[in-house]
Amino acid sequence: KLPRSIERLVGQMTPEEKAGQLNFVTSAIAGPAALRINPEFSNRSSEQQLEMIRSGQLTGIFNAAGTEWLGRAQRAALESRLKIPAMFAADVIHGFRTVFPVPLGESASFEPDLAERTARRTAIEAAATGIDWTFAPMIDVSRDARWGRTVEGVGEDVLLAKRMASARVRGFQGEGVNRPDTMLACPKHFAGYGAAEGGLDYNTVDVSQRTLREVHLPPFQAAFEAGAVSTMAAFNELSGIPATANRWLLSDVLRGEWDFDGVVVSDYTAIAELIAHGFAADEREAAKRAFMAGVDIDMQSGLYLSHLPELVRSGEVPMARLDQAVRRVLLLKHRLGLFDDPFVRINSPAASRPVPPLDRALAREAAQRSIVMLKNEGDVLPLGKDRRIALIGPFAEGHRDLVGPWTLFGTDADAVDLATAVRAAVGEGAQVTVTAGSKAEDAIDGGIEAAVAAARAADVVVLAIGEPAMFSGEAASRAEPKIPAAQQALAEAVAATGKPVVVVLKNGRALALEGAVVDASAILVTWFLGTESGTAIADILFGETGPSARLPVSFPRNAGQAPYYYDHKSTGRPDPVGRLSGFKAHYQGIPNSALFPFGHGLTYGKIAYSNLSVGNAKLESGGSLTVSATVTNSGTRDAEEVVQLYVHDRAASVTRPVRELKDFRKVRLAPGQSETVQFTLTRADLTFVGDGMEWTVEPGTFDVWIAPSAESADAPHATFELV
Ligand code: IFM
Repeated sequence: KLPRSIERLVGQMTPEEKAGQLNFVTSAIAGPAALRINPEFSNRSSEQQLEMIRSGQLTGIFNAAGTEWLGRAQRAALESRLKIPAMFAADVIHGFRTVFPVPLGESASFEPDLAERTARRTAIEAAATGIDWTFAPMIDVSRDARWGRTVEGVGEDVLLAKRMASARVRGFQGEGVNRPDTMLACPKHFAGYGAAEGGLDYNTVDVSQRTLREVHLPPFQAAFEAGAVSTMAAFNELSGIPATANRWLLSDVLRGEWDFDGVVVSDYTAIAELIAHGFAADEREAAKRAFMAGVDIDMQSGLYLSHLPELVRSGEVPMARLDQAVRRVLLLKHRLGLFDDPFVRINSPAASRPVPPLDRALAREAAQRSIVMLKNEGDVLPLGKDRRIALIGPFAEGHRDLVGPWTLFGTDADAVDLATAVRAAVGEGAQVTVTAGSKAEDAIDGGIEAAVAAARAADVVVLAIGEPAMFSGEAASRAEPKIPAAQQALAEAVAATGKPVVVVLKNGRALALEGAVVDASAILVTWFLGTESGTAIADILFGETGPSARLPVSFPRNAGQAPYYYDHKSTGRPDPVGRLSGFKAHYQGIPNSALFPFGHGLTYGKIAYSNLSVGNAKLESGGSLTVSATVTNSGTRDAEEVVQLYVHDRAASVTRPVRELKDFRKVRLAPGQSETVQFTLTRADLTFVGDGMEWTVEPGTFDVWIAPSAESADAPHATFELV
């Protein structure tokens, strides 16, 4: 509820000032430049921007940080006629100066608590530079490895997405968004952006309402339940209506069904893009359509500012709708504490202290816990420090591709690369040879020969290959998510030496691994791990700590399987995994399954599952069912296992996926230790969107597994009845 003093402002505002409160643009001084700004700094565009703020034409600016510049902007806002404070936003996605793993990598930890802690630290660092609002978390469920923005998200699974979404919101928003060390969260992109056809960024999305409600919307609902009071409309169209002008989505569902009382901001120039979509004939119509559908703030198109006052005067847009949007924005500023103290973050105690050191301990922990070990034949890992190591590959050495995409304020220069960390780990007398062998996309003259020579002279090869950061992120779709040819050739040549190869993958998505890469002795998936990238990888390589993460996206057998995800439907002709029988659902020569499925990941222990128990195998209405299994580490090293609970509804009025994750828990097991891991299922876990688009549940038989991954064939299985 808007306090009366603020409510009075609405009555005093002209239509132009109201439109100004809905107009948000990129800062004239953006990115790290704003952090380093010299107090005397002034240029024409920044002066013009200050003038716009002073004359009430901007609600705030985004993608700047730094109390000097943002302080000037805030002072300009307070010189405006009604002295309405400005607000400052930025894409603070996975860390600020301290950079944590890309969100997809961090989702691999299966540790919402870790995501909450890194988001908390991120908010503390960013808020101390004046940022009020982050355009994060990105919680688009993405199931197509070709889509470059997969890197920013939560992976392919709805439950994991929901838990990560709420954790990140809690972390950013801390004890309350009016406090100087918190940022307002903005779950994005609402909605369906992750389902872009062909994995092509910005492309058409045409999913059924059921899929939207079951897969793409629940993470948003979870984020709002965790306290998020803003969201960003997606770029894509949704079954014919662009999300940015989709009244059903932005008003009927978001406000009507969910009672959302926050603010909807458009994506960058998305309102003007309604013309290119073919949904608006001109800019005036674009402004009107987006606004009437429910977009409150126009990011970067400038069309609300230029058209809303006239649209109201002509009667095409009711003044009541304009007031509603303005009230929402003022309420947001009130929630941010800006009416009480417009300098709440700019003059916070943290802002006046010298720049704090990076939180390298948390960066290292988060990075370690995001690394997934796909295979480890012959226990080649962990490596002995006395081994002669050939560290080969374009990502072996150098301060690039460490922090990954969407790091506006952190830098590779502050991050630890792999070669530095490996040398530091093995210490004096190290026997480590480092050579690139190839560039990310192109061969290097003599590179392969040098790499082969290094491999021959070593006991083991650590092959650091994969994708550079620019292959992931916005507008970075890949037609074939594979290892680039030059690096594949390097891998083949190195493997031909016969030396054991440990592949250290750098990747922002699931990759279709082939040839010598799949056949390597060990594979670590290391994403873009951030500030302590190299250190964390070295920690795992040498067994300082064990791998404990799991794939948040399935790695397909072939790039052509995209989109592949574990919780697909059965079809009428399912193919028993690996049989490739005629007239069944599979590709020529490729089973319809993953090479490394969602949830997969190994430890340095030896894990086995047994004794699945489902009590009396009956789940009564209003009751619950305890499902448990024994998980044992019979290895000689500690292990952290992500124990996963999957169910399958055998027959329903709407077909159900072959398996659905319903719960998970990470357990630490000492050598020889067993633990009984217990989960509780209730009816709520078994609901689906029925024929009439309502959440429903039907009695019947369910399969249940407690398993180490979504497709493990030998996981203990049982059935129960929902009565
Ligand atoms: O927040 C981003 C969004 O995710 C993609 N387009 C630009 C926005 C602002 O930088």
